[in-house]
Amino acid sequence: ICNGEAEHPTSKGMAISTIPPQFNGLLSPENFDLYQYEGFWYHNFYLEGVKLAQKQFKAQPTDIILCSAPKSGTTWLKALAFAILTRTRYDFSSNPLLVTMPHDCVPMLEVDIVQNPGNRSPEFPLLSTHIPFSSLPTSIVASGSRIVYICRDPKDAFVSFWHFIVKVRPEIGFLPLEVVFEMFCRGVSYYGPYWDHVLGYWKASLEQPEKVLFLKYEDMKREASVCVKRLAEFMGHPFSSSEESKGVMEQVLQLCSFENLSNLEVNKKGRHRADTPVAIENNTYFRRGKVGDWKNHLTDQMIRRMNHITEQKLGSCGLTF
Ligand code: A3P
Repeated sequence: ICNGEAEHPTSKGMAISTIPPQFNGLLSPENFDLYQYEGFWYHNFYLEGVKLAQKQFKAQPTDIILCSAPKSGTTWLKALAFAILTRTRYDFSSNPLLVTMPHDCVPMLEVDIVQNPGNRSPEFPLLSTHIPFSSLPTSIVASGSRIVYICRDPKDAFVSFWHFIVKVRPEIGFLPLEVVFEMFCRGVSYYGPYWDHVLGYWKASLEQPEKVLFLKYEDMKREASVCVKRLAEFMGHPFSSSEESKGVMEQVLQLCSFENLSNLEVNKKGRHRADTPVAIENNTYFRRGKVGDWKNHLTDQMIRRMNHITEQKLGSCGLTF
């Protein structure tokens, strides 16, 4: 029923490039150190880890794997899942999230875990990945691990991605929004095509709703408590009625809110993966945290084009934003 197997619409020539001709030279995956593997684009630093994960990773049935395409709300989801899981171990004034950035609280499969399997502890079932569903290590699906996926309106994911790539790849030089937009629409972005990434997990969530929880950033913003309640239940750590009456869920939400996390010293000043080629300031992960920032960046033509791709790729599957 879904049209996910169809070719990426923009690769068939329907797209009208909006970039000024002088920037055409920038339009190349190599400029961004991107390589295609199993239908998706990877930065070379992560690609090695993806292949290693496919070869080595042995999932446990108790694992809870937080999955997303970059810039969809991964940091928020990691914080929430971590806070839910650890709420009885720490009180809210001593939770590690206050001094450790969310990405350092939940190890990433294709980097932290494959490079150092010792990073896994059986008592701590949370891990994260950006790997698309179709390329996940086979043991994840076979073991019955639970998967939580977060996605976001592609227009906001794109705007967030543009800000991110401008910040993390200064050596590329001036990177106009139009160039990154063109590449994103053609499917060339970290772990892109974005739409195919979303579609893979969306289909999996329809087929196995008890194993794959599909969340939208926009729903989480609008109905945070409903979503967090559902997340805690799915993770097997539901809020008890006594916790509900004590306002524990609200404390989780408060701890993980954009306002709180983005103002913590560690997230304002710290550096993530400091000793690697992909080192990055922690504050890069906290920009605006709003729904609809695309309205401040995209032209009408860009909006139409992106909506068209979204409709073509996801509309018939019942996924809208
Ligand atoms: P913007 O760039 O639109 O502000 P990811 O974590 O997948 O890299 O996604 C980053 C996006 O999530 C950024 O969006 C960032 O500001 C937003 N974000 C980070 N922490 C958040 C939080 N606690 N609540 C809501 N949004 C958050």
